[in-house]
Amino acid sequence: MSRDLGHLREHYVAGTLRRADLAADPVAQFERWWDEWVAAGRYDPAACVLATADADGRPSARFVLCREFDAHGFVLYTNLESRKAADLAANPQASLVFGWLDQDRQVRVEGSAAPLDDATVDAYWSSRPRGSQLGAWASTQSAVVPDRAAIEARLADAEARFGAGDEGPAVPRPPYWGGYRVSIERMEFWQGRPDRLHDRFAYRRDASAPGGWSVERLSP
Ligand SMILES: Cc1cc2nc3c(=O)[nH]c(=O)nc-3n(C[C@H](O)[C@H](O)[C@H](O)COP(=O)(O)O)c2cc1C
Repeated sequence: MSRDLGHLREHYVAGTLRRADLAADPVAQFERWWDEWVAAGRYDPAACVLATADADGRPSARFVLCREFDAHGFVLYTNLESRKAADLAANPQASLVFGWLDQDRQVRVEGSAAPLDDATVDAYWSSRPRGSQLGAWASTQSAVVPDRAAIEARLADAEARFGAGDEGPAVPRPPYWGGYRVSIERMEFWQGRPDRLHDRFAYRRDASAPGGWSVERLSP
């Protein structure tokens, strides 16, 4: 049976994006939209989709949490033996999409993903709740497991080694846990408009442009 969804029609009327509104660089523009999204109090401002491709160019995408952004890129944390990590080892090109749909907005980021250095990962690791730290020891992310009991057995092992609960001695970082910074080569801001005549602006790195970025309006 197929479900016809053609009757679901949103009207994109939340706002506009004009060239005169744009910040000179895409991170400053992202920060403006980020602040507006956070102020709206929606779940979960940091959630974004990370797209990668494997050695054969086969794409896959999944949500992650963006934990930091600045001119150097967008930072995320994950398991370095996961499917996404295998993709990025074979092909560091990556793309992120933030979907702030209540505001009729999406932001696309394209660049390459580089592993974070140990000091950066350690600093973030130590800020994580102890339960999440134990969970990282319990997970062989993306591997096939026979059942949930296998995951819980690994958690029990970690608790036996490091102590259970929210309080207790520091949990060391598993050697396979780390993160990536996705650099910014291109960023696009999309604001939905009526009749599908959306506003789109793409920033591209361009050493000859003022501020180092060219900005072009794209057809919806
Ligand atoms: C809202 C949301 C946030 C997530 N954040 C992360 C994250 O920050 N890091 C992570 O490894 N997985 C995160 N996940 C789980 C991933 O979507 C995915 O299941 C996991 O990373 C394995 O992906 P892979 O097998 O493609 O490597 C999140 C899922 C959701 C729905």
